[in-house]
Amino acid sequence: MADLAELVDQIAKDMATTPERGRVADYIPELAKVSPAHFGLVAITADGQEVAAGDADLPFSIQSVSKLFALVEALGRNADAVWARVGREPSGSAFNSIVQLEAEGGRPRNPFINAGAIAVTDLVAAGDDPRAGVGAILRLVRRLAGDDGISVDGAVAYSEAATGHRNAALAHFMKAHGVITGSVDATLSTYFHQCAIAMSCRQLARAGRFLMHGGIDPASGEAIVSPERARRINALMLTCGHYDASGEFAFRVGLPAKSGVGGGILAIAPGRACIAVWSPGLSAQGNSLLGTAALERLAGAMGWNVFNPDG
Ligand code: DON
Repeated sequence: MADLAELVDQIAKDMATTPERGRVADYIPELAKVSPAHFGLVAITADGQEVAAGDADLPFSIQSVSKLFALVEALGRNADAVWARVGREPSGSAFNSIVQLEAEGGRPRNPFINAGAIAVTDLVAAGDDPRAGVGAILRLVRRLAGDDGISVDGAVAYSEAATGHRNAALAHFMKAHGVITGSVDATLSTYFHQCAIAMSCRQLARAGRFLMHGGIDPASGEAIVSPERARRINALMLTCGHYDASGEFAFRVGLPAKSGVGGGILAIAPGRACIAVWSPGLSAQGNSLLGTAALERLAGAMGWNVFNPDG
C-alpha cells in the first residue's frame, strides 16, 4: 500500500499545478473573491495519524458541509422526528432546486439539499433567536475539532443574506406547507450563518472523526451519536452528499462525503480514515472539481472504499 504522507504530498503538489480548476462560486458575492489557486488536504487515519499538505491550515467557508453538523444537532434534539420533515432520498436535482419542492408538497427529499437543510436548521433554531441556533452548531464543531478558534465569517453571512432570494423562496414555500414552524427570517439567518462558518481542512477533518469511529469522538471518547446514527448519516452522505452528482461521486470515490460551494469536501472511510479537502473551483453541479479528483486518487491508492471487501 502507498505511503500516506508521500501520497498526500504528491497529490497536493500535482493539484497545485493543474490548470483546469473549475469555477469559483459567484452567486454569493463574497465567495467570488476567493482564489481558485488554493488547494488543501488533510487525512486522519483510524489509528490517529494526521497527514496534511498544501493550504491545510487556511480557513475557508464550509457552506453546505455545515448541513452535516446541523443534522447531527437536530437529530440530537429531535431524534427521529427529523424524518417527519425531510426525506432520505437522493434528489437527482440541483442543490437549490425549487421545482421538486413544489411538486412534492413542500417536503424536501433529503437533509442536504438547500430546502432540506433549511428545514433541519428550523428545528435547531426552533423559537430561539438566530444567534442561539448558530451558537449550538458552532459549539458542536468547536468541540468536535477541539478548537475554540472556529468562528463565523460575518462578511460571508451578510453577503449570502443579501442575495439569498432562492433560499428565501424555498423557506417561504415550506412555511406555507407547515414544514417550517419557526420564523422564516430567524431560520434563514441561522442557516446563512451556519453556512458561513470558516474552517481549515485540518479542523474539518478532526470534526469528522466521530463518523469513522461509529459515532465516538476519539479525542474525548465521548459518543457524539449512536453507532446506528453514524451509519445512517454516512448512508445519507453517500447517497445525497453531492446532490445530483452523488451517484458519480460514489462511482469514482466510493465514500460517504459532504461537499460545499466554498470548495470543501469532508469524506469518511468508516473504520479507516477521515479526509478533508479544499479547492474552491467547482464542477457544474457545485462540487469541488479538484477536491473530487484528489479524493478519487487518494481513496483509490489507499483502498479506502465502502465497496471494497476490506475498504
Ligand atoms: O445556500 C446556499 O446556496 C449555500 N449557503 C450553500 C450551498 C452549497 O454549499 C451547495 N454545495 N455544494
